Amino acid sequence: MFENVQIAPPDPILGLTEMFKADSNPDKINLSVGVYQDAQGKTPVLATVKEAEKRILEQENSKGYLPMTGEPVYCAQVQELLFGAGHEIIAAKRAATAQCPGGTGALRVAGDYLHIVHPGAKIWLSNPTWANHNTIFQAAGLECQSYDYRDPKSNGLDFEAMCASIKTIPKGDVILLHGCCHNPTGIDPSPEQWAQIGDLLVEQGVLPLVDFAYQGLADGVEEDRAGLLELCKKVKQMLICSSFSKNFGLYRERTGALTLVADNAEQAATVMSQVKLRIRYNYSNPPSHGGQIVATVLSDPQLKAQWLEEVAEIRNRINEMRHLFVKTLKEKGVEQDFSSIIEQRGMFSFSGLTKAQVEQLRERYSIYIVGSGRINVAGMTPSNMDRLCEAIKSVL
Ligand code: LMR
Repeated sequence: MFENVQIAPPDPILGLTEMFKADSNPDKINLSVGVYQDAQGKTPVLATVKEAEKRILEQENSKGYLPMTGEPVYCAQVQELLFGAGHEIIAAKRAATAQCPGGTGALRVAGDYLHIVHPGAKIWLSNPTWANHNTIFQAAGLECQSYDYRDPKSNGLDFEAMCASIKTIPKGDVILLHGCCHNPTGIDPSPEQWAQIGDLLVEQGVLPLVDFAYQGLADGVEEDRAGLLELCKKVKQMLICSSFSKNFGLYRERTGALTLVADNAEQAATVMSQVKLRIRYNYSNPPSHGGQIVATVLSDPQLKAQWLEEVAEIRNRINEMRHLFVKTLKEKGVEQDFSSIIEQRGMFSFSGLTKAQVEQLRERYSIYIVGSGRINVAGMTPSNMDRLCEAIKSVL
């Protein structure tokens, strides 16, 4: 059966990491996949994660299966992180959470749930969006549509066009919104704009699915939930996909969650019963380790405070690199205006580099950037900045 199988195309993001690893140039720079690197170019294990792992190793006394929805303490902590302790949604038990294998796993479970339980519902994705969104939802059997988002002239949000697009979404469809640190543009709506989006979604009867993979990397763990909370004031039902890859550095531990918000506790339990079936048919129940780490850190006030400092360090370093990148390009005499990158948040920005320029950067300088021109700012360091900006100048 295998002799007629065609070779699959490389993944637009992870395929580049494979090429990067195979590149023997000692000065190579990886600005492709969204993985944080410190000033020394290393992806560190957080000190709070190491401490939690020590405790888990001492205390763990079983490797039995977790429930299909995962570890209850972890799920409760996910909700507190999303909404804030004591929020009405938590008090009224209007939310139900399932621990999932990474943010990607949560998105796929959400896609399977929507496809089976709400047949015919289409999902609307921002233009542009994370390269894997389309493929995840298509694999789940959903039809994907796109809504306007980025203004290419200003490299900012085209809010008017976004609202106009939302007004065309039929009742019963789903819209995917990025909770903060929009991937790939780094452009987020303001809290006021989130409130307006909420009003529009209620008018249209459209269900929001919030992909929340970067909480803490924009302005702070609490600050970054501002948009979500505005939405929650307007919209009673939604799906939220969380990831702890970035803010806990737990990339390989595949630590995520799917949270649903419903009108009331009974409805939340009913919808979760359907979600549970999708989990059972997919991977049965989630892996435990990453969830235990997150639960251990967030349940201990001291560890949590230390973790908040570690997230601040990550956030501040990325923001410093945004400034240094724009400044260095200017100093080198680059005329193209990159200043909007300073305003953007999270790991990514759209550089405006063309596909051909991206290819030249890879072939001539071993600098790896996603074909769309998305750059991972978290891969820049004070020591690779000069070489990077010099190379960009030469291909512009
Ligand atoms: C990214 O966009 O680079 C990250 O979310 C990692 C991934 O899986 O693509």
